[in-house]
Amino acid sequence: MSIEVVPLTVEDIPGAIEVIQQAFAEDPYFVWVFNSSKSLNNLRHWGRGGLNSKRYWIWKDRQQEAHNAIWDDPRGYYFCNIVAVSPGSQGKGIGRKLFETVTDRADEEGVKCYLESSRNVPNVKIYEKMGFTMSREMECRDGADACMLYCMTREPKVKN
Ligand SMILES: CC(C)(COP(=O)(O)OP(=O)(O)OC[C@H]1O[C@@H](n2cnc3c(N)ncnc32)[C@H](O)[C@@H]1OP(=O)(O)O)[C@@H](O)C(=O)NCCC(=O)NCCS
Repeated sequence: MSIEVVPLTVEDIPGAIEVIQQAFAEDPYFVWVFNSSKSLNNLRHWGRGGLNSKRYWIWKDRQQEAHNAIWDDPRGYYFCNIVAVSPGSQGKGIGRKLFETVTDRADEEGVKCYLESSRNVPNVKIYEKMGFTMSREMECRDGADACMLYCMTREPKVKN
């Protein structure tokens, strides 16, 4: 199967949302940061409910600490923030192609990349294959309820 990565169009947005919702349905960070009674929140907030804003800001605070500790390039990093492949299509090389659209550009520009994985297994191994290394473990805690994020960075490859 030949795979071509193309930019999203407006028409692609509903399909992209579907893929993200399916791929992250059991994701530890998504489970932690979204309220479980999504339907009620969606009714209250015109379809935009569900986000636990207290937890969102806990995450942003921990993230700022991580960036302060890890990010050492004033130009910043390419942040591979949400990467998702439909569950039925995972493990077929599509994720690698998606990442390469960013990492190839980062290599050309000599810029580092960054991501936060909400799963140690299997994602850390997958990202190591794409050249990322573990930089820091980040705990987002709200009382007794916590989730871990794994901050990984990637140095640009120097072309010979
Ligand atoms: C993480 C994700 C984007 C990877 O995409 P994918 O299409 O499944 O990955 P690929 O098939 O391109 O595999 C990439 C590499 O990882 C390896 N890999 C794939 N699944 C693996 C597994 N379960 N364990 C170890 N290695 C694995 C592949 O062999 C490949 O290496 P290679 O190219 O050197 O052979 C995808 O699995 C996904 O959407 N997961 C759910 C959502 C998610 O967790 N997103 C990331 C949150 S930060």
